[in-house]
Amino acid sequence: MKLKTLLATAGVFVALSLGNAFAAEAQQNYEKHCMKCHGKDGKGATKMGRQNGAKDYTDPKVQAEMKDEDAIKAIRSGMKENGKEKMKPYGGELSDEEIRALVAYMRAFKK
Ligand code: HEC
Repeated sequence: MKLKTLLATAGVFVALSLGNAFAAEAQQNYEKHCMKCHGKDGKGATKMGRQNGAKDYTDPKVQAEMKDEDAIKAIRSGMKENGKEKMKPYGGELSDEEIRALVAYMRAFKK
């Protein structure tokens, strides 16, 4: 009984610290690669964000229109409009887990 409680507590602790590690990593990746366009707050109100037409990810409508698969694809393979690159592909630098964590990070901008 005691051992079980101990194991359960340890499990929760490991899960929590893993979750935090991913969240911290996502924030670092976001600040390194994405913030210059999408902004620290996700509004895309930076110089480069405005130039490229980054949307406001605090807007629930923008969030609703974005599908997880499309977000993952955009981060992995980049975004182009009329042959002009709006966002470069990050698939070479970021793992699938990191990309998923970034999508979750961007979801949290929703107001
Ligand atoms: C050079 C500017 C730029 C950088 C840097 C950039 N993006 Fe984007 N991103 C854009 C633009 C422009 C769009 C298209 C408009 C929009 O959906 O906001 C876009 C779209 C997206 C979308 C929406 C895709 C969809 O289907 O709606 C996601 C998710 C995204 N970016 C995530 C990221 C992440 C994560 C990073 C960093 C790894 C990043 N972006 C870096 C400019 C950029």
